[in-house]
Formats: sequence, C-alpha cells, structure tokens
Amino acid sequence: MIWCSGWELASAVSNSGGLGIIGSGSMYPEVLREHVDKCKAATNKPFAVNIPMLYPDIDKHIETVIDKKVPIVFTSAGNPKTYTEHLKKNGITVVHVVSSLKFALKAQEAGVDGVVAEGFEAGGHNGRDETTTLCLIPMVSKHLQIPVIAAGGIATGSAMLAVMNLGADAVQIGSRFVASNESSAHQNFKNTVVSAKEGDTVLTLKEITPVRLIKNAFYSKVEEAYIRKATKEELIDLLGRGRAKRGMFEGNLEEGELEIGQIAGDIDNVLPAAEIVRNILDEFEEAKKEMNSEKFNF
Ligand SMILES: Cc1cc2nc3c(=O)[nH]c(=O)nc-3n(C[C@H](O)[C@H](O)[C@H](O)COP(=O)(O)O)c2cc1C
Repeated sequence: MIWCSGWELASAVSNSGGLGIIGSGSMYPEVLREHVDKCKAATNKPFAVNIPMLYPDIDKHIETVIDKKVPIVFTSAGNPKTYTEHLKKNGITVVHVVSSLKFALKAQEAGVDGVVAEGFEAGGHNGRDETTTLCLIPMVSKHLQIPVIAAGGIATGSAMLAVMNLGADAVQIGSRFVASNESSAHQNFKNTVVSAKEGDTVLTLKEITPVRLIKNAFYSKVEEAYIRKATKEELIDLLGRGRAKRGMFEGNLEEGELEIGQIAGDIDNVLPAAEIVRNILDEFEEAKKEMNSEKFNF
C-alpha cells in the first residue's frame, strides 16, 4: 500500500505468519532498494513487493526486485503481459491484481502464478465495474486454474473464512493494516481510519483512475466538479500531484487523498501488525467451529 507499507509493516507481517508486501508505488527507485534491504535484515521469512504498472520509472523497480532476489512480486494497475515472463525467467513468482473476471482471465493467459481478485469495497485504486468481493470471488474461482487471493472488505477471520468458502485460496488485507503500529501512514490518517463510520468512503475519479477514499474537503471539490460536469482534464488538474502523499503520509486530512476501504467503518483501533495477524487467525478458527453450531444445522 502506497505511503503505508514499507519494510517495517512488511517484515512485521511476514514475521507473524503472513506474507508482508512492500508498496513500491510511492517510492523512488533508491528508496525501494533501501526498503528491500531493511526488510531482508528484519525477517528471514518470504516477503513480496507490489509494483503498480503505472509507476513512471518501472524498469528501475523491476531491476531492483531481480537484483535483490525478491521472491514474489505483485503487479497491479496495468497489463500483466508486459513483465510477467521477464520476472518469471528470473525466478520470481508473479501475482497480478485484478478487479474483474475479464482481467483475471487475461492475467491467467499472461502466465501469472496467481491473482488477487479485489472487490468494490477495497481501499485504494480499484476497477470501474463495481463488482463486489461477494460476487467477484465465486466467478473468478470458478473460471481460473491458478490460485485466487481475495481482497476487499476483509479484516477479520470470519470474513477470511467467508471468502475462502466462496472459492478463494488466500486473502489480501489492506485497510486493517493501515491502522497498525508499523504502517508508515501519518497518525492523523490512522486516527481517521479508526473513527471512520459506514458510508464515509466512496469510489470516485473513475475517469482518471478509480479510487476509494474518505469523503473529506478534497472529495467535496471532486463532487462539485462532477456537478458542474467538469472534463477529465479538469479532474486531472483538480487532483494535481502528490495528493495521496499529502493526505496519507503528511496527515493533511482536508486537502489530501485518504485512500481506505469500506471496512474502515469496522476498524476501531491501531494495533501491532502481529496482533492483527494473530486476531485474524484466532477468529478464523473460531468461525470454523461456529460452522458446526446449530445455526448452520437446519
Ligand atoms: C492506503 C492504501 C494504499 C494502497 N495501495 C496499493 C498499491 O499501491 N498497489 C496495489 O496493488 N494495491 C494497493 N492498495 C490495495 C490493497 O493492496 C488491497 O488490495 C486492498 O486494500 C484490499 O481491500 P481492503 O482495503 O478492504 O482490505 C492500497 C490500499 C490502501 C488502503
């Protein structure tokens, strides 16, 4: 997750039994190198790097993950054909993030090892089709022969069990870890996530790159722009540069872009990443037991 998952969060998750992912989309090439080195020093478990394909200096990031022998790369926001073969030839496992069955099939055809199927609920950049996790996971699981990792709206063990029952092999969790001690999000943003209520986020800016964010003063300007039927160019101007950094990293809650998922409405505290992972796994076991209860025996 841009501005949130650097080496501290990624290594904490990997050390707790998950697969931590460094979000390289907000890092200059030399910053990614540093984060990979620090992550390696902080964990001897596998970790991954996410590379959004919109990244302007993408060749340098690709070079870094190959040079540093990062075992797994999650590509997103672009065509999986471009780098999959190259990464795989260099021994890297490739997972591509998709928001629809159509893109999932394309990713499979491009030879990726697995997909993250991310529903409408998810924080950050998302698809245009608004397919919810509940609908997306069964469809993608039914039609793909490779592993499917469910994302969007998952922050508890019971949600993890639910999507696995729908056909997912694993889960990717974003928003819950924004509100972790190790996340590099600004404290103001973490506090906003904790106090967010149901209905406080919206998927917007579909004309540029659809993104789910908190409705704040910046979003009010976006809404006004839609009312006056602003052109795509006007929306690009309004978004400007560096808004995500301003909001999530620098803590400007009014003018920044605050990317978070709908599940923020159910996140009530900032916890160490290890505790988040442990809670999810405990809840998962509890939820499995619940399935033997009377409620499910009818
Ligand atoms: C602040 C934030 C930044 C994100 N940045 C990225 C990113 O750079 N690349 C990416 O593939 N997904 C990104 N995502 C999406 C997450 O990786 C994940 O798929 C999503 O958060 C899952 O849904 P959830 O927020 O409901 O848990 C981001 C999500 C958030 C909340």
